[in-house]
Amino acid sequence: MIYADYNGSAPICEDVKNYLIKRLNSNGPYSNPNAIHFMGGKVLMTMEKARSECARILGAMAHQIFFNSGSSEGISQVFHSLLSDGVTKGKDIMIISAIEHSAVVNAGLYFEKKGYKYLIPKTLENGLVDIDDLEKLLKQNLEKVAIVSIMAANNETGVIQPYKEIALLCQKYHAPYFSDTTQLVGKGPFNFQECMADYAVMSGHKIGALTGTGILMAKDPSTLKSLIFGGGQEKGLRGGTQNYIGNETLAVALTHMQNNISKLEDIRLKRLEFEAKLKKEFPAIVILGEKASRLASTTFVSYPKIHGQGVQIELESQNIFVTTSSACSDNEPVTSKVLKAMNVSDDIGRGAIRISLGPCSNPESYDNIFQGMCNAYKKLSKIKSF
Ligand SMILES: Cc1ncc(COP(=O)(O)O)c(C=O)c1O
Repeated sequence: MIYADYNGSAPICEDVKNYLIKRLNSNGPYSNPNAIHFMGGKVLMTMEKARSECARILGAMAHQIFFNSGSSEGISQVFHSLLSDGVTKGKDIMIISAIEHSAVVNAGLYFEKKGYKYLIPKTLENGLVDIDDLEKLLKQNLEKVAIVSIMAANNETGVIQPYKEIALLCQKYHAPYFSDTTQLVGKGPFNFQECMADYAVMSGHKIGALTGTGILMAKDPSTLKSLIFGGGQEKGLRGGTQNYIGNETLAVALTHMQNNISKLEDIRLKRLEFEAKLKKEFPAIVILGEKASRLASTTFVSYPKIHGQGVQIELESQNIFVTTSSACSDNEPVTSKVLKAMNVSDDIGRGAIRISLGPCSNPESYDNIFQGMCNAYKKLSKIKSF
């Protein structure tokens, strides 16, 4: 079996599995980390150690790290913090890129209904946000921008945005910058302080920690507002008793990721070889976002006129699990909005499948995926000889 949907969710990593077995076999401590007794204190200490570890690896300070349930929650909290007071001081503009995850898009649409204007900078055909257009929007709306939301790495194409440059532009025009770093953390070098965004997020299940865990990073936590009233947990900024064991797994998974980050270079080289082999074998195929800098472990590829879903099913019959990333309407595959923003035609867009691995995947998996794709394309295109 080859699992090639790490951008969807990564398997629980070995270190997390071992940590959990040991943790559960040692009969605790289990307690409410906010309890004042000894057991509560012990749990709190372990969780705060995990917070410090996460902070160190993510390049943040411990007080800038808020444990939560994952990126969707972190994204909602950033939007809530910056926009829920309604339009104040004429700050009624949201600048949100066209390639954001639906967790961002839906937050933007919600606040659009509350009176904010939703502006979208252009996307270039290579998948990068057009920085000149972004600057134009920032300039035209000086002192009116309540949020800029441009992701660090795209979940479909793997294209990495120049997020530091974007952060500098936002600073220049006094606009708060949120970078959705869900796909970058664990799949490329990331440092919150160096990335210069005001806010960033991650999801535990994308890096092999327990699902239902995550982190919101805030440069200035005093700008945050809680989404959940609760009992004052996480400095009053995220109510509810913390998922302390889950939060511990975040530190374990991030440490594992840090220890294995160098393996991404092998994945990157093998991925490039895989893509070159595919292009040689099938000259019609298109690697989406190929001309931009991409995550080491992501390939978004299309054979025009062959539906991605068909390829995905064919691969699944060979025990290779990939995804299409495009929505389906009345059984008709639809080009994803990310690809539409990149001006990709429907013939290509409907054919896209995403192959995404992680730092600890076996690079040789690409050879099996290549073979599987040859079989799938051969069957689906009825091409006689490859
Ligand atoms: C770029 C990006 N942002 C946000 C999310 C939402 O993450 P979660 O579903 O873990 O809350 C995802 C998940 O696929 C993602 O890829």
